[in-house]
Amino acid sequence: MSPLAITLDFQRGVLKPCNNVIQRHLSDMRGMYLDDTATEEAIGQSDPLLYEVYQYDVPFETGQLLVVTTVLQPGKVGDEYYMTKGHFHEKEDRAEVYLGLQGQGCLLLETTGGEFKALPVEPGIVTYIPPYWAHRMVNTGQGEFIFFGVYPADAGHNYGDIEKTGFAKVLAERNGQPTLIPNPKRQKR
Ligand code: PA5
Ligand code: NI
Repeated sequence: MSPLAITLDFQRGVLKPCNNVIQRHLSDMRGMYLDDTATEEAIGQSDPLLYEVYQYDVPFETGQLLVVTTVLQPGKVGDEYYMTKGHFHEKEDRAEVYLGLQGQGCLLLETTGGEFKALPVEPGIVTYIPPYWAHRMVNTGQGEFIFFGVYPADAGHNYGDIEKTGFAKVLAERNGQPTLIPNPKRQKR
């Protein structure tokens, strides 16, 4: 393929050109937040758009890189902040880099071996997701949380168990503050 230049709108997160846009509504994440009643209520009312992903697809081949931005809306389901689904890479040894562009958030990471880490992200923070670490972004701020990412085009996404039981900890509001609390669903895994 030929080299190309892509415009990244730092304020809105939009990529141009962009040949793959994914929208995730709350109904795409049923069962992923702790409060199922709040989830169903919100879906019944407006089924809010939680995030949009703008990706420039190149061939999904070893050696290629994908560039992607995510625009994660502010808000909560119950007392849990809006978040991405989170995933391992299908090829688990593929790493990824995220760069915060707008807003305030937190990157949750964990391994199958039980290690967990949470890294605050704001504009100008580059986070490095090593091979074998599952990753999820959470919007802990008042406005849109926008971040840019680069990852190997052959990595793929494995949502697997994360869709059912999530990460070891969840980010919920406690006394008006984003607080990491143990995830009760993990007791059942
Ligand atoms: O590849 C990535 O890690 C990101 O581009 C994510 O896919 C994006 O942020 C959306 O998250 P998820 O794929 O977990 O829904
Ligand atoms: Ni990823």
